[in-house]
Amino acid sequence: MPHTFANDVVVVGGGGHVGLPLAIGLADRGSRVVVYDINAATVATINAGTLPFSEPGAEPKLKENLANGRLTASADPAVVATAQHVVVVIGTPVDEHLNPDPNAIPRALEDTAKFLTDGQILILRSTVYPGVTALVERMIAAQGLDIDVAFCPERIAEHKAMEELFSLPQIVSSRTDRGRERAAALFSTLTDSIVHLEPEEAELAKLFTNTWRYIKFAAANQFYMMANERGLDFERIREGLSRDYPRAQDMPGAGFAAGPCLFKDTMQLAAFSDNNFQLGHSAMLVNEGLPLYVVTRLEKKYDLSELTVGILGMSFKGGSDDIRSSLSYKLRRVLKFKAKAVLCTDPYVTEDTDPTLLPLDAVLAKADILIVATPHPEYRGIVTDKPVADVWNVMGRGVMV
Ligand SMILES: NC(=O)c1ccc[n+]([C@@H]2O[C@H](COP(=O)([O-])OP(=O)(O)OC[C@H]3O[C@@H](n4cnc5c(N)ncnc54)[C@H](O)[C@@H]3O)[C@@H](O)[C@H]2O)c1
Repeated sequence: MPHTFANDVVVVGGGGHVGLPLAIGLADRGSRVVVYDINAATVATINAGTLPFSEPGAEPKLKENLANGRLTASADPAVVATAQHVVVVIGTPVDEHLNPDPNAIPRALEDTAKFLTDGQILILRSTVYPGVTALVERMIAAQGLDIDVAFCPERIAEHKAMEELFSLPQIVSSRTDRGRERAAALFSTLTDSIVHLEPEEAELAKLFTNTWRYIKFAAANQFYMMANERGLDFERIREGLSRDYPRAQDMPGAGFAAGPCLFKDTMQLAAFSDNNFQLGHSAMLVNEGLPLYVVTRLEKKYDLSELTVGILGMSFKGGSDDIRSSLSYKLRRVLKFKAKAVLCTDPYVTEDTDPTLLPLDAVLAKADILIVATPHPEYRGIVTDKPVADVWNVMGRGVMV
């Protein structure tokens, strides 16, 4: 088998929100890395030294590693043949009926199958439907290739990538000792802390982690609605119950819990347990229902059909430009039916992503009523005499709606 490769790592889906920080991180720690992505525009952006999305601290390191030759990007699948480690981190969304697609990764690998060669290790890093690692192992075996397969899930949070890649423990799983050792050796360039699990354990570990977080947000959101219905401010209650009380430190505040991971991974887990996952589905109902609850509450106080509503924040989390699965858009959709007009603003989301957005000042001036949909730090100091619905308490005026 000994084979020499021109590169150490190719990241398939390396133009994405987690693929690119990983590629940059590995290059920064000395690996020769190629980003492979089917999106040619993203590849061109990366090769020009620009990050296609915001990720603090990543762009200078991208430029540095392009300049020193340790990082390159390509839309040509043939680059997959050039690296010893093939890391796959393409998106794994659920469809419009909330079904996961266990074949997303095998399908993506079909494009590159003819470039896989003996001596490589294929490391799955996307969050996968349980059983996908075994499916990929069978694909590789059917092709008669001497390639190790590992599943090493990504656990960073967007916007913390350039810290967390180097600080979080890395879960490593593979069926063979050689696969385990090789995958651990690669990730040891990023972190000293390697956690070994079996592939099926690791697949569930990743889904349990995201689902756990999603359920915690749902519990807080339900508490919020309960308190709000009784005319009580959940944030005051939460602050009181958690002050110097260690067992309640992990209770989150209320908020629009969304984004590209938590919801879909909870649904992947629900599908995996034959849709017999009451807690997961309940969490979805609560979290996805919160924007509608806010609108219903506002309707009780105001005749929305006479009012212009301003939505502050369109990305799914504070400080981010990522609008994927953001509940701000659900809020906008429902308000378009109910309000006289809806105006939206976001300091991070660009005109290319959403040309309908207005500057903050214009929304503050024109709207009759405001909803803080994303806890962007820019909203902290806003002074306005208009009514505000702010379940996040960003503006510090309380969370009651
Ligand atoms: N976003 C997060 O914070 C986060 C955190 C941990 C894990 N994850 C998981 O990581 C995976 C990727 O998520 P993401 O947010 O980076 O997605 P993304 O959509 O930002 O990136 C995926 C990239 O893969 C490319 N791609 C798609 N099909 C391809 C193919 N066949 N060959 C080559 N490239 C292809 C796309 O063009 C895109 O650039 C998902 O499974 C997700 O659940 C995401």
